[in-house]
Amino acid sequence: MHGIRALPGRPAYPFIEQTYSHQLEMVRPSSFGLVEAPSLPDGYALRQLRSGDEVPYNDLFHLAFADEGRFQETIERTLPGGFFVVDHVTSHELVASCVAMRGSSSPRHVQGQLGWLVTDPSHTRKGLGTIVSASVTNRLVAEGYQRPFLGTEDFRIAAISIYLDLGWRPHIYRDDMEPRWRSIYGYLGREFLRD
Ligand SMILES: CC(C)(COP(=O)(O)OP(=O)(O)OC[C@H]1O[C@@H](n2cnc3c(N)ncnc32)[C@H](O)[C@@H]1OP(=O)(O)O)[C@@H](O)C(=O)NCCC(=O)NCCS
Repeated sequence: MHGIRALPGRPAYPFIEQTYSHQLEMVRPSSFGLVEAPSLPDGYALRQLRSGDEVPYNDLFHLAFADEGRFQETIERTLPGGFFVVDHVTSHELVASCVAMRGSSSPRHVQGQLGWLVTDPSHTRKGLGTIVSASVTNRLVAEGYQRPFLGTEDFRIAAISIYLDLGWRPHIYRDDMEPRWRSIYGYLGREFLRD
C-alpha cells in the first residue's frame, strides 16, 4: 500500500519502489549564486502557500509522493517566503510546488534543504518545475546557506536534470554512488566529472 493517489481528471505518477537503501544527495555551492528562473507561462500564477491551501497542496503532493504525514514537519521547517506553489488560474488547482527549508533531513548536511519538488503530471514540460525549484534555490542562496542539500532517487531523472541545470551537484558519500551517478548522467547524455 502506498500513498500516491490520482484524482478525478488528474492522473498520478507511477509508484516506483526504491531499489537502493541510501538516497542520492546533491549540494549546491554558494559560489554558484542566484539562478534566473524562466518566465511563467500564461494561465499560471506563482505565489506562496497560504491558509486554505492545505487540501489542494495535499492533493498535489500525493500525485507524486507516497510519504504520509509530512506536511506539519515541512511547514515547521519552511523558511519565510520559502513555500512556492503554482496556481492554475482556470481550474484553481495547485499544479507545482517546491519548498526551501531550514536544517536538513540528512546527517551529512546541516544548513538548508530543497524539498518536495512536484509538478502535476498534466502540467509538465512547461517550465513549472524549473520555476519553483529555481525560486527555492534562490531562497536558499538569499538565506546565506553555503552548501544547501537535497535528497533524491535514481529514477527521478526529470528532477535531477533540473537540479543539474540549476547548479546542484552530486554529493557522493558511499563507494556505490559513483556508478549510480554515472548511469544517470549517461541517461541524460551528460558527461560525469567527479569533483
Ligand atoms: C521533476 C518534475 C517536477 C519536473 O516538472 P516539469 O514541470 O515538467 O519540469 P520543467 O518543465 O521545468 O522541465 C524542465 C526540464 O527538465 C527536463 N525534464 C522534464 N521532464 C523530463 C522527463 N520526463 N525526462 C527527461 N527530462 C525531463 C527537461 O530538460 C526539461 O526541459 P524541456 O521540457 O525544455 O526539455 C516532475 O516530473 C515531477 O513532479 N516528478 C515527480 C516528482 C519528483 O520526482 N520530484 C523530485 C523529488 S527529488
